[in-house]
Amino acid sequence: MFIDALRACLRSAFPENAAIVNESVTISDRPDISDYQCNLALKLAKVLRRAPLDIAKEIALVLQKEQHVPFEVNVAPPGFVNIVVSEQGLCALLQKEDFFVAQASQKKTIVMDYGGPNVAKPLHVGHIRSAVLGESVKRILQHVGHKVIADVHMGDWGTQMGKVLYGLEQTFSDLYNEDLPLTFTFEDLEACYTLANQHFQDEKSAKTMRDMTCSLQAGDTRYSRIWRRVHALSVTEIKEIYDQLGASFDLWYGESRYQRVMPQICDLLEQKGLAHVDQGALIAPVAIEGESADVPPVLLRKKDGGFLYATTDLATIKERVEELQADAIVYVVDTRQNLHFEQIFRLAEKMGLQADFSFLGFGTVNGSDGRPFKTRDGGAYRLRELLQDMEQSVSNCMREKGRSLNKEVVHSIALAALKVGDMQQDMRHNYEFSVEKFTQFDGNTGPYLLYVCTRIKSLLAKCEHITPALNQKWCTEERTLAVLLLQHPDIILRAAKNFAPHIVCQYAFMVAGAYNVFYQNCPILSEEKSVQSHRVFLSRLTMKCLQELCHILGLEIPKFM
Ligand code: ARG
Repeated sequence: MFIDALRACLRSAFPENAAIVNESVTISDRPDISDYQCNLALKLAKVLRRAPLDIAKEIALVLQKEQHVPFEVNVAPPGFVNIVVSEQGLCALLQKEDFFVAQASQKKTIVMDYGGPNVAKPLHVGHIRSAVLGESVKRILQHVGHKVIADVHMGDWGTQMGKVLYGLEQTFSDLYNEDLPLTFTFEDLEACYTLANQHFQDEKSAKTMRDMTCSLQAGDTRYSRIWRRVHALSVTEIKEIYDQLGASFDLWYGESRYQRVMPQICDLLEQKGLAHVDQGALIAPVAIEGESADVPPVLLRKKDGGFLYATTDLATIKERVEELQADAIVYVVDTRQNLHFEQIFRLAEKMGLQADFSFLGFGTVNGSDGRPFKTRDGGAYRLRELLQDMEQSVSNCMREKGRSLNKEVVHSIALAALKVGDMQQDMRHNYEFSVEKFTQFDGNTGPYLLYVCTRIKSLLAKCEHITPALNQKWCTEERTLAVLLLQHPDIILRAAKNFAPHIVCQYAFMVAGAYNVFYQNCPILSEEKSVQSHRVFLSRLTMKCLQELCHILGLEIPKFM
């Protein structure tokens, strides 16, 4: 990777300051002036107590000596170093076989926790977000060489279980007759859950539900038998939805898995003096003295003996660190759970469970009214309905443009619209979901990206007889595109470091945009042979680049559009 070669060369020239070299050499933020830039001189000026311009000149000399690939180096006051790859240099770099390869300097085993669906409760937009973003983060990390273990971590043990059991009991009379098979369906579960929620207002019913949860957790055989069916039905349904979204998991573990170990963990924490009983409940303080905002203690066991969300999460971390040998654990969960994760990360560290913990909190999906996204009748949006609406809107766009409609094609475009809507900006922000905006074929949308890809594909099909080969003559559009393609590995590494799919997404838009300009201004078939070859080479490389990016973003490029 070219940028790496520049960095390596500066690291050996400034060994004492090697640590700051990497971040000092970056892709240029003034592409009109240079392709890469280096502000190391400005940073070193203070340390070395020398004029930045002098250091910049020295850096330029160092770089000039080390050239494997021809490029120009300029120094600009007060101490910037600008690097412009020459046309010969572009040819050399783009012809390298391994040019798209990006590898993290340290390979890790990373457990990713995303999806987080709840048994018996319908998936809402938030769960879709977690699956879409999490899947993309996983692919980015895999791309740079990490070993990633994806765990869906189902919510299958909390209070909602008591609610479903209660709802089922109200609806089905033969529920506890072990001689008869259980016949309720997934749809029944939703209805039962809704019913239970209505009755939950009533204190007596609410208590019954809580007691049912406790009994289930204590191993009641009647409830366990029902729970197994509830679980199996939910997993089938959820798998189907995640399959559609292209999210795949290595582990389908859930909260229930940890029931057996939670008592031991609580004992261990008590023995170590990390937790104590307070008014009948077991709590573990995690506040740090002198902190401005107090972080409340972790509630591990309720007065009635029931364990909590935090207890299951702690048990999960223990397994991931000790059994799965995780170096890092990454959670993709609604940002409103930030405090919960802060608490359990602290407690895990106190317990000596060592790993890098990252909480990637994502913002809320809002409707055009600025409130959480709901269906027309005010219910939570289901993926199925959402996709139907997106497909409808995509079909309308295609009809308007006079394109032929094909079910599969419409489906992939609709999915891309949904995913790009989710990933195009920093996940921490809330965003407004707009079926209409996301399904447009122009602007920064999923359909636009796919459209550019299919256009290159059909162009390449027409150019099959042309042998791709670069030549030394570059027009502006070609150069802009080539310089952008060269950034690929560095962009992916940056996205991996920041767990940020939007970095990949925005880069994909830039590549697609640059290709569009090239496409409009640089004809192929009407040109002489060497120009044809040059442009086919660039088109092929762009295709390869976009294919990789689409894979990372989980977008499927349709056969035609
Ligand atoms: N089931 C949870 C929810 O719907 C999300 C689970 C997130 N993962 C975790 N390890 N707590 O809010």
